[in-house]
Amino acid sequence: MPGDLRFEVPSSISLRPFMPADVPAVAAIEALVSPEPWSERLFADEFTVASARRHWLVAEETSPDVEQGLMIVGFGGMMFVADEGHLMNVATHPDHRRRGIAAALCAALFADAAERGMASLTLEVRISNVGARELYRRFGFVPVSSRRDYYRNADGTREDALILWLHDLGSALAPATSPNTSPGS
Ligand SMILES: CC(C)(COP(=O)(O)OP(=O)(O)OC[C@H]1O[C@@H](n2cnc3c(N)ncnc32)[C@H](O)[C@@H]1OP(=O)(O)O)[C@@H](O)C(=O)NCCC(=O)NCCS
Repeated sequence: MPGDLRFEVPSSISLRPFMPADVPAVAAIEALVSPEPWSERLFADEFTVASARRHWLVAEETSPDVEQGLMIVGFGGMMFVADEGHLMNVATHPDHRRRGIAAALCAALFADAAERGMASLTLEVRISNVGARELYRRFGFVPVSSRRDYYRNADGTREDALILWLHDLGSALAPATSPNTSPGS
């Protein structure tokens, strides 16, 4: 196995499909974590794309602090073109980092990609994003090329993207995380 997939996920975390009603909560997390955040409109537009070409999940935590008892703490989404899956976005609320949430989201998204017959996965990541790069490294992604000045920073400067690929999808999915995935996700 190319990756290093020993992650623990708290039992209070569950994964389920992203739904239109989740857009404000997901966009709020995105606004907190990204220098170039997706707008609510951009997230909402994802629901207009055929489900064969997209897969989005949210991670929820049981919380006594919210009326419904569940709070969205992370999300992630993939697009599919031919036999390639592209991780479009993944994020965890800053108060819930290093609890295995992004790893659980990625594991579920990548397992679904394998079930859809994807041969390989790709994504772009900021060169400075050490945490995300380490997460992807553990799934077996390797840097293959870069895109110069691909991202814009808050101060107006630009930053290169690293383009990562995982070509050995099947073998990268050893049982390591145990997210509590709802039926249908
Ligand atoms: C990157 C990000 C999604 C990670 O989310 P997370 O839920 O905290 O990640 P996990 O807890 O699942 O981490 C799994 C593993 O990834 C690696 N990792 C995650 N964050 C890390 C960090 N800041 N530094 C080093 N390694 C890190 C570790 O190996 C970690 O395992 P460990 O905690 O047992 O050491 C989160 O920091 C985030 O939302 N960042 C802003 C959005 C973003 O950059 N998204 C990626 C776009 S390409």
